[in-house]
Amino acid sequence: ARVRHYNWNVEYMIRKPDCLEHVIMGINGEFPGPTIRAEVGDILHIKLTNKLDTEGTVIHWHGIRQIGTPWADGTAAISQCAINPGESFHYRFHVDKAGTYFYHGHYGMQRAAGLYGSLIVTLPKGQNEPFHYDAEFNLLLSDLWHTSSLQQQVGLSSAPMRWIGEPQSLLINGRGQFNCSLAAKYGNTTLLPQCNFKGGEECAPKILHVEPNKTYRIRIASTTSLASLNLAISNHKLIVVEADGNYIHPFSVDDIDIYSGETYSVLLTTDQNPNKNYWLSIGVRGRKPNTPQGLTILNYKTISASVFPTSPPPITPLWNDFNRSKAFTKQIISKMGTPQPPKTSDRRILLLNTQNKLEGFTKWAINNVSLTLPITPYLGSIKYKLNNTFDKTAPPDTFPMDYDIFNSPVNPNTTTGNGVYTFELNEIVDVILQNANQLTGNGSEIHPYHLHGHDFWVLGYGDGKFEPGVDEKKFNLTRAPLRNTAVIFPYGWTALRFKADNPGVWAFHCHIEPHLHMGMGVIFAEGVHKVGTIPTDALTCGLTATLFLNGTHP
Ligand code: C2O
Ligand code: CU
Repeated sequence: ARVRHYNWNVEYMIRKPDCLEHVIMGINGEFPGPTIRAEVGDILHIKLTNKLDTEGTVIHWHGIRQIGTPWADGTAAISQCAINPGESFHYRFHVDKAGTYFYHGHYGMQRAAGLYGSLIVTLPKGQNEPFHYDAEFNLLLSDLWHTSSLQQQVGLSSAPMRWIGEPQSLLINGRGQFNCSLAAKYGNTTLLPQCNFKGGEECAPKILHVEPNKTYRIRIASTTSLASLNLAISNHKLIVVEADGNYIHPFSVDDIDIYSGETYSVLLTTDQNPNKNYWLSIGVRGRKPNTPQGLTILNYKTISASVFPTSPPPITPLWNDFNRSKAFTKQIISKMGTPQPPKTSDRRILLLNTQNKLEGFTKWAINNVSLTLPITPYLGSIKYKLNNTFDKTAPPDTFPMDYDIFNSPVNPNTTTGNGVYTFELNEIVDVILQNANQLTGNGSEIHPYHLHGHDFWVLGYGDGKFEPGVDEKKFNLTRAPLRNTAVIFPYGWTALRFKADNPGVWAFHCHIEPHLHMGMGVIFAEGVHKVGTIPTDALTCGLTATLFLNGTHP
Protein backbone atom coordinates (compact mmCIF):
# COMPACT_ATOMS: atom_id res chain seq x y z
CA ALA A 1 0.00 0.00 0.00
CA ARG A 2 1.16 3.49 -0.76
CA VAL A 3 0.01 7.06 -0.56
CA ARG A 4 -0.89 8.52 -3.94
CA HIS A 5 -0.71 12.28 -4.23
CA TYR A 6 -2.74 14.36 -6.66
CA ASN A 7 -2.78 18.09 -7.13
CA TRP A 8 -6.03 19.03 -8.80
CA ASN A 9 -7.46 22.33 -9.99
CA VAL A 10 -11.18 22.49 -10.70
CA GLU A 11 -11.86 25.01 -13.44
CA TYR A 12 -14.20 26.07 -16.21
CA MET A 13 -12.92 25.40 -19.70
CA ILE A 14 -14.16 25.86 -23.25
CA ARG A 15 -14.30 22.48 -24.96
CA LYS A 16 -16.11 20.61 -27.72
CA PRO A 17 -17.21 17.37 -26.07
CA ASP A 18 -19.97 16.81 -28.67
CA CYS A 19 -18.29 18.78 -31.50
CA LEU A 20 -19.96 22.05 -30.44
CA GLU A 21 -18.26 24.50 -28.16
CA HIS A 22 -19.44 24.60 -24.52
CA VAL A 23 -18.28 25.88 -21.18
CA ILE A 24 -17.74 22.81 -19.03
CA MET A 25 -16.02 21.94 -15.79
CA GLY A 26 -12.79 20.06 -15.83
CA ILE A 27 -9.77 19.23 -13.72
CA ASN A 28 -6.20 20.20 -14.62
CA GLY A 29 -7.35 20.98 -18.17
CA GLU A 30 -8.94 17.56 -18.65
CA PHE A 31 -12.55 16.64 -19.31
CA PRO A 32 -13.59 14.21 -17.95
CA GLY A 33 -11.25 14.67 -15.01
CA PRO A 34 -8.12 12.50 -14.67
CA THR A 35 -8.66 8.77 -14.09
CA ILE A 36 -7.43 7.59 -10.72
CA ARG A 37 -6.04 4.05 -10.63
CA ALA A 38 -5.08 2.79 -7.20
CA GLU A 39 -4.59 -0.50 -5.39
CA VAL A 40 -6.64 -1.81 -2.51
CA GLY A 41 -5.22 -0.42 0.73
CA ASP A 42 -3.74 2.70 -0.84
CA ILE A 43 -4.34 6.11 0.61
CA LEU A 44 -5.43 8.75 -1.85
CA HIS A 45 -4.37 12.26 -1.02
CA ILE A 46 -6.00 14.74 -3.34
CA LYS A 47 -5.33 18.42 -2.88
CA LEU A 48 -8.32 20.02 -4.58
CA THR A 49 -8.04 23.69 -5.45
CA ASN A 50 -11.09 25.62 -6.52
CA LYS A 51 -10.26 27.72 -9.60
CA LEU A 52 -13.88 28.53 -10.38
CA ASP A 53 -13.62 32.22 -9.31
CA THR A 54 -17.25 32.71 -8.33
CA GLU A 55 -18.62 29.50 -6.84
CA GLY A 56 -17.74 26.85 -4.30
CA THR A 57 -17.00 23.23 -5.11
CA VAL A 58 -16.52 19.76 -3.56
CA ILE A 59 -15.85 16.29 -4.99
CA HIS A 60 -17.59 13.11 -3.86
CA TRP A 61 -15.84 9.74 -4.29
CA HIS A 62 -18.81 7.68 -5.36
CA GLY A 63 -18.75 4.13 -4.00
CA ILE A 64 -15.86 4.68 -1.58
CA ARG A 65 -17.29 4.14 1.89
CA GLN A 66 -14.93 6.56 3.69
CA ILE A 67 -14.60 4.26 6.68
CA GLY A 68 -13.16 6.42 9.44
CA THR A 69 -12.95 9.52 7.22
CA PRO A 70 -16.55 10.78 6.88
CA TRP A 71 -15.24 14.35 6.39
CA ALA A 72 -13.67 13.26 3.09
CA ASP A 73 -16.99 12.19 1.52
CA GLY A 74 -17.14 15.42 -0.48
CA THR A 75 -20.77 16.40 0.08
CA ALA A 76 -21.34 20.14 0.51
CA ALA A 77 -23.46 21.00 3.57
CA ILE A 78 -23.33 17.37 4.71
CA SER A 79 -19.71 16.30 5.26
CA GLN A 80 -17.92 19.61 4.70
CA CYS A 81 -18.14 23.27 3.80
CA ALA A 82 -17.93 23.98 0.08
CA ILE A 83 -14.38 24.94 -0.89
CA ASN A 84 -14.27 28.68 -1.59
CA PRO A 85 -12.81 30.08 -4.83
CA GLY A 86 -9.04 30.13 -4.61
CA GLU A 87 -8.93 27.80 -1.61
CA SER A 88 -7.89 24.16 -1.37
CA PHE A 89 -9.18 21.15 0.52
CA HIS A 90 -7.20 17.97 1.19
CA TYR A 91 -9.12 14.75 0.61
CA ARG A 92 -7.26 11.92 2.31
CA PHE A 93 -8.88 8.51 2.48
CA HIS A 94 -8.36 4.78 2.06
CA VAL A 95 -9.55 2.79 -0.91
CA ASP A 96 -10.36 -0.49 0.80
CA LYS A 97 -12.20 -2.51 -1.83
CA ALA A 98 -11.31 -3.33 -5.42
CA GLY A 99 -13.83 -2.22 -7.99
CA THR A 100 -15.07 0.29 -10.51
CA TYR A 101 -15.92 3.67 -9.08
CA PHE A 102 -16.06 7.30 -10.13
CA TYR A 103 -16.03 10.75 -8.62
CA HIS A 104 -18.13 13.82 -9.22
CA GLY A 105 -19.07 17.27 -7.98
CA HIS A 106 -21.61 17.28 -5.15
CA TYR A 107 -22.49 20.93 -4.86
CA GLY A 108 -25.38 22.54 -6.75
CA MET A 109 -25.54 20.87 -10.15
CA GLN A 110 -21.84 20.70 -10.91
CA ARG A 111 -22.14 17.12 -12.12
CA ALA A 112 -24.35 18.35 -14.98
CA ALA A 113 -21.64 20.94 -15.64
CA GLY A 114 -19.13 18.14 -16.28
CA LEU A 115 -17.30 17.71 -12.98
CA TYR A 116 -16.60 13.98 -12.94
CA GLY A 117 -14.03 11.28 -13.68
CA SER A 118 -13.18 7.60 -13.12
CA LEU A 119 -11.75 5.96 -10.02
CA ILE A 120 -10.53 2.40 -10.39
CA VAL A 121 -9.31 0.29 -7.51
CA THR A 122 -7.40 -2.86 -8.45
CA LEU A 123 -6.28 -5.84 -6.42
CA PRO A 124 -2.67 -5.81 -5.25
CA LYS A 125 -0.26 -7.46 -7.69
CA GLY A 126 -0.27 -11.22 -7.33
CA GLN A 127 -3.93 -11.36 -6.32
CA ASN A 128 -6.43 -12.41 -8.94
CA GLU A 129 -10.01 -11.44 -9.64
CA PRO A 130 -12.48 -14.35 -9.54
CA PHE A 131 -12.67 -14.19 -13.36
CA HIS A 132 -10.09 -14.15 -16.12
CA TYR A 133 -9.39 -11.41 -18.63
CA ASP A 134 -6.51 -10.39 -20.86
CA ALA A 135 -6.91 -6.62 -20.84
CA GLU A 136 -9.40 -3.97 -19.85
CA PHE A 137 -11.22 -0.86 -21.03
CA ASN A 138 -12.86 1.81 -19.00
CA LEU A 139 -16.03 3.58 -20.12
CA LEU A 140 -17.39 6.57 -18.26
CA LEU A 141 -20.89 7.40 -19.51
CA SER A 142 -22.52 10.80 -19.16
CA ASP A 143 -25.11 13.11 -20.69
CA LEU A 144 -24.54 16.62 -21.99
CA TRP A 145 -26.82 19.66 -22.12
CA HIS A 146 -26.48 22.77 -24.22
CA THR A 147 -27.97 24.87 -21.44
CA SER A 148 -25.65 25.69 -18.56
CA SER A 149 -26.12 23.96 -15.23
CA LEU A 150 -26.80 27.40 -13.76
CA GLN A 151 -29.67 27.97 -16.19
CA GLN A 152 -30.98 24.49 -15.39
CA GLN A 153 -30.76 25.12 -11.68
CA VAL A 154 -32.58 28.46 -11.88
CA GLY A 155 -35.27 26.95 -14.14
CA LEU A 156 -35.89 24.05 -11.77
CA SER A 157 -36.18 26.46 -8.85
CA SER A 158 -38.62 28.79 -10.65
CA ALA A 159 -42.41 28.95 -10.34
CA PRO A 160 -43.67 27.53 -12.61
CA MET A 161 -40.78 25.09 -12.83
CA ARG A 162 -38.90 24.88 -16.12
CA TRP A 163 -37.86 21.31 -16.74
CA ILE A 164 -34.40 20.68 -18.21
CA GLY A 165 -35.74 18.39 -20.96
CA GLU A 166 -33.66 15.59 -22.41
CA PRO A 167 -29.89 15.79 -22.94
CA GLN A 168 -28.59 16.93 -26.32
CA SER A 169 -25.82 14.32 -26.44
CA LEU A 170 -24.68 11.15 -24.75
CA LEU A 171 -20.96 10.94 -24.05
CA ILE A 172 -18.64 7.96 -23.84
CA ASN A 173 -15.45 8.98 -22.03
CA GLY A 174 -16.46 12.60 -22.56
CA ARG A 175 -17.02 12.30 -26.32
CA GLY A 176 -20.20 12.46 -28.38
CA GLN A 177 -21.40 13.79 -31.72
CA PHE A 178 -24.22 16.33 -31.80
CA ASN A 179 -24.13 17.61 -35.37
CA CYS A 180 -23.18 14.41 -37.17
CA SER A 181 -23.65 10.68 -36.75
CA LEU A 182 -21.09 7.92 -36.96
CA ALA A 183 -23.84 5.72 -38.37
CA ALA A 184 -25.64 8.07 -40.82
CA LYS A 185 -24.70 5.75 -43.70
CA TYR A 186 -27.08 3.16 -42.38
CA GLY A 187 -30.02 5.51 -42.81
CA ASN A 188 -30.62 6.01 -39.13
CA THR A 189 -33.53 8.19 -38.08
CA THR A 190 -31.58 11.19 -36.77
CA LEU A 191 -31.18 12.74 -40.27
CA LEU A 192 -27.71 13.86 -39.28
CA PRO A 193 -24.87 13.89 -41.83
CA GLN A 194 -22.17 11.25 -41.60
CA CYS A 195 -19.30 12.30 -39.31
CA ASN A 196 -16.03 12.71 -41.12
CA PHE A 197 -13.25 12.59 -38.62
CA LYS A 198 -9.69 12.99 -39.75
CA GLY A 199 -8.45 11.95 -36.34
CA GLY A 200 -7.42 14.09 -33.42
CA GLU A 201 -10.80 15.87 -33.15
CA GLU A 202 -11.93 16.44 -29.59
CA CYS A 203 -15.27 14.78 -30.27
CA ALA A 204 -14.00 11.83 -32.33
CA PRO A 205 -14.94 8.61 -30.53
CA LYS A 206 -12.31 6.73 -28.55
CA ILE A 207 -12.15 3.43 -30.39
CA LEU A 208 -11.78 0.12 -28.54
CA HIS A 209 -8.98 -1.76 -30.30
CA VAL A 210 -9.11 -5.50 -29.62
CA GLU A 211 -7.35 -8.66 -30.71
CA PRO A 212 -9.36 -11.70 -31.77
CA ASN A 213 -10.01 -14.50 -29.29
CA LYS A 214 -9.21 -12.59 -26.17
CA THR A 215 -11.30 -11.67 -23.15
CA TYR A 216 -11.66 -8.02 -22.19
CA ARG A 217 -12.99 -6.57 -19.01
CA ILE A 218 -15.04 -3.47 -19.73
CA ARG A 219 -15.56 -1.25 -16.73
CA ILE A 220 -18.64 0.92 -17.10
CA ALA A 221 -19.81 3.74 -14.84
CA SER A 222 -22.74 6.08 -15.40
CA THR A 223 -22.48 9.59 -14.04
CA THR A 224 -25.40 10.91 -16.08
CA SER A 225 -27.33 13.82 -14.70
CA LEU A 226 -30.63 12.37 -15.88
CA ALA A 227 -30.48 9.59 -18.44
CA SER A 228 -30.94 5.88 -17.76
CA LEU A 229 -28.90 4.04 -20.36
CA ASN A 230 -28.71 0.75 -22.19
CA LEU A 231 -25.34 -0.39 -23.54
CA ALA A 232 -24.82 -2.99 -26.23
CA ILE A 233 -22.04 -4.20 -28.53
CA SER A 234 -23.25 -5.65 -31.82
CA ASN A 235 -22.88 -9.42 -32.22
CA HIS A 236 -21.19 -9.84 -28.84
CA LYS A 237 -22.44 -11.22 -25.55
CA LEU A 238 -21.58 -9.48 -22.30
CA ILE A 239 -20.97 -11.40 -19.09
CA VAL A 240 -21.78 -9.22 -16.10
CA VAL A 241 -19.36 -9.89 -13.22
CA GLU A 242 -19.20 -6.79 -11.02
CA ALA A 243 -21.78 -4.26 -9.83
CA ASP A 244 -20.92 -1.14 -7.77
CA GLY A 245 -17.57 -2.57 -6.67
CA ASN A 246 -18.97 -5.96 -5.63
CA TYR A 247 -18.64 -9.30 -7.36
CA ILE A 248 -21.89 -10.75 -8.57
CA HIS A 249 -22.98 -14.11 -9.92
CA PRO A 250 -21.88 -13.95 -13.59
CA PHE A 251 -24.66 -13.87 -16.16
CA SER A 252 -24.67 -13.41 -19.89
CA VAL A 253 -26.71 -10.77 -21.73
CA ASP A 254 -26.90 -8.97 -25.08
CA ASP A 255 -27.08 -5.54 -23.46
CA ILE A 256 -27.09 -3.98 -20.01
CA ASP A 257 -29.20 -1.28 -18.39
CA ILE A 258 -27.17 1.19 -16.38
CA TYR A 259 -28.71 3.89 -14.22
CA SER A 260 -27.02 7.01 -12.95
CA GLY A 261 -24.76 6.15 -10.03
CA GLU A 262 -24.26 2.53 -11.02
CA THR A 263 -21.07 0.82 -12.15
CA TYR A 264 -20.54 -2.58 -13.77
CA SER A 265 -17.82 -4.75 -15.16
CA VAL A 266 -18.65 -6.96 -18.11
CA LEU A 267 -16.49 -9.50 -19.88
CA LEU A 268 -16.39 -9.49 -23.64
CA THR A 269 -14.86 -12.29 -25.66
CA THR A 270 -13.69 -11.26 -29.11
CA ASP A 271 -14.95 -14.41 -30.81
CA GLN A 272 -16.70 -12.81 -33.79
CA ASN A 273 -15.55 -12.43 -37.40
CA PRO A 274 -12.16 -10.63 -37.06
CA ASN A 275 -12.54 -9.09 -40.49
CA LYS A 276 -15.30 -6.79 -39.32
CA ASN A 277 -15.71 -3.92 -36.90
CA TYR A 278 -18.65 -3.64 -34.49
CA TRP A 279 -20.67 -0.94 -32.78
CA LEU A 280 -20.76 -0.10 -29.14
CA SER A 281 -23.92 1.91 -28.46
CA ILE A 282 -25.60 3.61 -25.54
CA GLY A 283 -29.21 4.75 -25.73
CA VAL A 284 -31.78 6.27 -23.40
CA ARG A 285 -34.25 4.13 -21.48
CA GLY A 286 -36.86 4.88 -18.83
CA ARG A 287 -37.87 8.29 -20.23
CA LYS A 288 -39.19 9.09 -23.69
CA PRO A 289 -35.88 9.60 -25.53
CA ASN A 290 -35.02 12.68 -27.52
CA THR A 291 -31.28 12.11 -27.71
CA PRO A 292 -29.36 10.22 -30.40
CA GLN A 293 -27.44 7.12 -29.34
CA GLY A 294 -23.89 7.52 -28.14
CA LEU A 295 -21.59 5.44 -30.37
CA THR A 296 -18.10 4.13 -30.69
CA ILE A 297 -16.41 1.27 -32.51
CA LEU A 298 -15.07 -2.06 -31.39
CA ASN A 299 -12.15 -2.55 -33.77
CA TYR A 300 -10.57 -5.94 -34.38
CA LYS A 301 -6.92 -5.01 -34.91
CA THR A 302 -6.83 -7.52 -37.77
CA ILE A 303 -8.38 -4.77 -39.90
CA SER A 304 -8.32 -0.99 -40.05
CA ALA A 305 -10.44 0.91 -37.55
CA SER A 306 -11.87 2.94 -40.42
CA VAL A 307 -13.64 -0.03 -41.98
CA PHE A 308 -17.35 0.57 -41.36
CA PRO A 309 -19.38 -2.02 -39.50
CA THR A 310 -21.51 -3.93 -41.99
CA SER A 311 -24.77 -3.41 -40.11
CA PRO A 312 -26.43 -0.52 -38.24
CA PRO A 313 -25.84 -0.01 -34.50
CA PRO A 314 -27.81 -2.12 -31.98
CA ILE A 315 -31.36 -0.88 -31.46
CA THR A 316 -31.84 0.37 -27.90
CA PRO A 317 -34.75 -1.53 -26.29
CA LEU A 318 -38.02 0.41 -26.04
CA TRP A 319 -37.73 3.11 -23.38
CA ASN A 320 -40.89 2.06 -21.56
CA ASP A 321 -40.46 -1.71 -21.68
CA PHE A 322 -40.20 -1.75 -17.89
CA ASN A 323 -40.67 -5.51 -17.70
CA ARG A 324 -37.46 -5.88 -19.67
CA SER A 325 -35.69 -3.46 -17.32
CA LYS A 326 -36.94 -5.36 -14.27
CA ALA A 327 -35.91 -8.68 -15.77
CA PHE A 328 -32.35 -7.40 -16.24
CA THR A 329 -32.11 -5.92 -12.75
CA LYS A 330 -33.50 -9.03 -11.08
CA GLN A 331 -30.79 -11.17 -12.67
CA ILE A 332 -28.24 -9.48 -10.46
CA ILE A 333 -27.59 -11.73 -7.46
CA SER A 334 -24.56 -12.03 -5.24
CA LYS A 335 -21.61 -14.20 -6.06
CA MET A 336 -21.75 -17.50 -4.23
CA GLY A 337 -19.99 -17.26 -0.89
CA THR A 338 -20.15 -13.48 -0.48
CA PRO A 339 -21.42 -11.94 2.79
CA GLN A 340 -25.17 -12.18 3.20
CA PRO A 341 -27.52 -9.87 5.10
CA PRO A 342 -28.46 -10.47 8.73
CA LYS A 343 -31.73 -12.41 8.80
CA THR A 344 -33.63 -9.65 10.58
CA SER A 345 -33.41 -5.90 10.98
CA ASP A 346 -33.58 -3.67 14.05
CA ARG A 347 -35.35 -0.80 12.40
CA ARG A 348 -37.38 -0.25 9.28
CA ILE A 349 -38.12 3.00 7.53
CA LEU A 350 -40.57 3.29 4.65
CA LEU A 351 -39.89 6.15 2.28
CA LEU A 352 -42.65 7.33 -0.04
CA ASN A 353 -41.35 9.24 -3.06
CA THR A 354 -43.69 11.85 -4.47
CA GLN A 355 -43.64 14.84 -6.74
CA ASN A 356 -45.27 17.80 -5.02
CA LYS A 357 -46.06 21.48 -5.00
CA LEU A 358 -44.88 24.15 -2.61
CA GLU A 359 -46.26 27.65 -3.14
CA GLY A 360 -46.18 27.24 -6.90
CA PHE A 361 -42.77 25.54 -6.97
CA THR A 362 -42.40 21.90 -8.00
CA LYS A 363 -40.57 19.61 -5.56
CA TRP A 364 -39.75 15.98 -4.95
CA ALA A 365 -40.47 14.83 -1.43
CA ILE A 366 -39.90 11.79 0.76
CA ASN A 367 -42.67 11.16 3.29
CA ASN A 368 -43.82 14.65 2.37
CA VAL A 369 -40.55 16.33 3.28
CA SER A 370 -38.52 17.94 0.50
CA LEU A 371 -34.85 18.20 1.46
CA THR A 372 -33.29 21.66 1.72
CA LEU A 373 -29.68 21.54 2.88
CA PRO A 374 -28.65 23.63 5.89
CA ILE A 375 -25.94 26.33 5.98
CA THR A 376 -23.80 24.49 8.53
CA PRO A 377 -22.69 21.03 7.36
CA TYR A 378 -24.32 18.25 9.41
CA LEU A 379 -21.14 16.39 10.33
CA GLY A 380 -19.59 19.27 12.28
CA SER A 381 -22.85 20.50 13.70
CA ILE A 382 -23.82 17.06 15.09
CA LYS A 383 -20.33 16.30 16.34
CA TYR A 384 -20.12 19.63 18.20
CA LYS A 385 -23.79 19.48 19.28
CA LEU A 386 -24.71 22.85 17.82
CA ASN A 387 -28.26 24.12 18.13
CA ASN A 388 -30.34 25.77 15.44
CA THR A 389 -28.33 24.37 12.55
CA PHE A 390 -31.02 22.02 11.22
CA ASP A 391 -34.49 20.69 12.17
CA LYS A 392 -34.17 18.79 15.42
CA THR A 393 -37.27 16.69 14.71
CA ALA A 394 -36.46 13.63 12.63
CA PRO A 395 -38.47 13.19 9.44
CA PRO A 396 -41.24 10.55 9.54
CA ASP A 397 -40.31 6.84 9.49
CA THR A 398 -43.32 5.98 7.38
CA PHE A 399 -46.23 7.40 5.38
CA PRO A 400 -50.02 7.01 5.67
CA MET A 401 -50.77 3.41 4.74
CA ASP A 402 -53.89 4.47 2.86
CA TYR A 403 -51.86 6.62 0.44
CA ASP A 404 -52.97 5.78 -3.10
CA ILE A 405 -49.74 5.25 -5.04
CA PHE A 406 -51.59 4.67 -8.32
CA ASN A 407 -53.07 8.18 -8.58
CA SER A 408 -51.79 11.72 -8.34
CA PRO A 409 -51.66 12.98 -4.76
CA VAL A 410 -54.99 14.16 -3.28
CA ASN A 411 -53.09 16.84 -1.40
CA PRO A 412 -50.21 17.82 -3.68
CA ASN A 413 -48.56 20.13 -1.15
CA THR A 414 -45.33 19.22 0.55
CA THR A 415 -43.25 20.65 3.35
CA THR A 416 -39.52 21.28 3.26
CA GLY A 417 -37.08 20.25 5.95
CA ASN A 418 -33.58 19.15 6.79
CA GLY A 419 -34.05 16.78 9.74
CA VAL A 420 -31.92 13.64 10.09
CA TYR A 421 -32.65 9.93 10.47
CA THR A 422 -30.36 8.87 13.32
CA PHE A 423 -29.37 5.23 13.72
CA GLU A 424 -27.74 3.45 16.63
CA LEU A 425 -24.20 2.46 15.74
CA ASN A 426 -24.28 -1.07 14.25
CA GLU A 427 -28.06 -1.06 13.95
CA ILE A 428 -29.42 -3.17 11.09
CA VAL A 429 -31.60 -0.88 9.04
CA ASP A 430 -34.18 -1.74 6.40
CA VAL A 431 -35.21 0.94 3.96
CA ILE A 432 -38.27 0.35 1.83
CA LEU A 433 -38.38 2.80 -1.04
CA GLN A 434 -41.91 3.26 -2.33
CA ASN A 435 -42.63 4.76 -5.73
CA ALA A 436 -45.91 6.48 -6.62
CA ASN A 437 -47.81 8.25 -9.38
CA GLN A 438 -46.44 11.61 -10.49
CA LEU A 439 -48.04 14.97 -9.67
CA THR A 440 -50.46 15.14 -12.61
CA GLY A 441 -51.64 12.67 -15.19
CA ASN A 442 -50.65 9.03 -15.14
CA GLY A 443 -47.09 7.92 -14.87
CA SER A 444 -44.35 7.02 -12.44
CA GLU A 445 -40.64 7.53 -13.04
CA ILE A 446 -37.57 5.45 -12.33
CA HIS A 447 -35.30 6.76 -9.58
CA PRO A 448 -31.82 5.34 -8.90
CA TYR A 449 -31.13 5.73 -5.17
CA HIS A 450 -27.55 6.04 -3.96
CA LEU A 451 -26.32 5.61 -0.37
CA HIS A 452 -23.14 7.26 0.87
CA GLY A 453 -20.83 5.59 3.39
CA HIS A 454 -22.11 2.02 2.90
CA ASP A 455 -23.02 -0.75 0.58
CA PHE A 456 -26.50 -2.20 1.12
CA TRP A 457 -28.02 -5.54 0.29
CA VAL A 458 -30.85 -5.36 -2.19
CA LEU A 459 -33.52 -7.60 -0.66
CA GLY A 460 -36.00 -7.32 -3.47
CA TYR A 461 -38.18 -5.38 -5.86
CA GLY A 462 -41.96 -5.52 -5.94
CA ASP A 463 -44.85 -4.02 -7.86
CA GLY A 464 -47.47 -1.82 -6.20
CA LYS A 465 -47.52 -0.82 -2.57
CA PHE A 466 -45.27 -2.59 -0.10
CA GLU A 467 -47.37 -4.69 2.24
CA PRO A 468 -45.80 -4.97 5.68
CA GLY A 469 -46.10 -8.47 7.09
CA VAL A 470 -46.49 -9.98 3.62
CA ASP A 471 -43.79 -8.68 1.31
CA GLU A 472 -40.89 -9.44 3.69
CA LYS A 473 -41.56 -13.09 2.96
CA LYS A 474 -40.31 -12.49 -0.57
CA PHE A 475 -37.00 -10.98 0.56
CA ASN A 476 -33.87 -12.51 -0.90
CA LEU A 477 -31.75 -13.28 2.16
CA THR A 478 -29.47 -15.85 0.59
CA ARG A 479 -28.16 -14.27 -2.63
CA ALA A 480 -28.82 -10.57 -2.02
CA PRO A 481 -26.37 -8.46 -4.04
CA LEU A 482 -24.36 -5.75 -2.27
CA ARG A 483 -24.61 -2.42 -4.03
CA ASN A 484 -24.49 1.30 -3.37
CA THR A 485 -27.17 2.27 -5.89
CA ALA A 486 -30.56 0.65 -6.56
CA VAL A 487 -33.53 1.74 -8.62
CA ILE A 488 -37.19 2.00 -7.79
CA PHE A 489 -39.31 1.03 -10.76
CA PRO A 490 -42.56 2.82 -11.69
CA TYR A 491 -45.32 2.12 -9.13
CA GLY A 492 -43.05 -0.33 -7.32
CA TRP A 493 -41.02 -0.73 -4.15
CA THR A 494 -37.41 -1.68 -3.49
CA ALA A 495 -36.18 -3.12 -0.18
CA LEU A 496 -32.63 -2.51 1.08
CA ARG A 497 -30.78 -3.61 4.23
CA PHE A 498 -27.55 -2.24 5.65
CA LYS A 499 -25.59 -2.12 8.86
CA ALA A 500 -25.17 1.39 10.28
CA ASP A 501 -21.55 0.70 11.18
CA ASN A 502 -19.75 3.71 9.73
CA PRO A 503 -19.73 6.73 12.06
CA GLY A 504 -20.66 9.80 10.05
CA VAL A 505 -23.44 11.65 8.28
CA TRP A 506 -24.49 10.19 4.96
CA ALA A 507 -26.71 11.27 2.12
CA PHE A 508 -29.21 8.84 0.64
CA HIS A 509 -30.75 10.30 -2.48
CA CYS A 510 -31.98 9.98 -6.02
CA HIS A 511 -28.91 10.15 -8.27
CA ILE A 512 -30.81 12.10 -10.92
CA GLU A 513 -29.22 15.46 -10.26
CA PRO A 514 -32.27 17.66 -10.98
CA HIS A 515 -34.37 15.45 -8.68
CA LEU A 516 -31.87 15.85 -5.85
CA HIS A 517 -31.86 19.57 -6.51
CA MET A 518 -35.66 19.51 -6.12
CA GLY A 519 -35.38 17.85 -2.71
CA MET A 520 -35.26 14.12 -3.41
CA GLY A 521 -33.00 12.94 -0.64
CA VAL A 522 -32.70 12.20 3.06
CA ILE A 523 -29.84 12.36 5.57
CA PHE A 524 -28.71 9.43 7.70
CA ALA A 525 -26.42 9.73 10.73
CA GLU A 526 -24.86 7.12 13.01
CA GLY A 527 -22.23 7.09 15.75
CA VAL A 528 -21.14 10.69 15.11
CA HIS A 529 -19.73 10.84 18.68
CA LYS A 530 -17.17 8.26 17.47
CA VAL A 531 -16.00 10.41 14.56
CA GLY A 532 -12.35 11.45 14.97
CA THR A 533 -10.97 14.96 14.59
CA ILE A 534 -12.59 16.67 11.64
CA PRO A 535 -10.08 18.67 9.57
CA THR A 536 -10.55 22.36 10.27
CA ASP A 537 -10.98 23.13 6.58
CA ALA A 538 -14.21 21.13 6.54
CA LEU A 539 -15.72 23.32 9.26
CA THR A 540 -15.03 26.92 8.29
CA CYS A 541 -18.57 27.94 7.38
CA GLY A 542 -21.91 28.46 9.12
CA LEU A 543 -22.08 28.00 12.87
CA THR A 544 -19.02 25.73 12.97
CA ALA A 545 -17.00 28.73 11.74
CA THR A 546 -18.39 30.74 14.66
CA LEU A 547 -16.75 28.22 16.99
CA PHE A 548 -13.39 29.23 15.61
CA LEU A 549 -14.16 32.95 15.79
CA ASN A 550 -15.16 32.58 19.42
CA GLY A 551 -12.10 30.51 20.14
CA THR A 552 -14.40 27.81 21.54
CA HIS A 553 -13.44 25.15 19.03
CA PRO A 554 -12.46 22.00 20.96
CU1 C2O B 1 -22.83 9.93 -6.80
CU2 C2O B 1 -24.56 11.69 -3.50
O1 C2O B 1 -23.79 10.89 -5.22
CU1 CU C 1 -35.32 10.72 -9.12
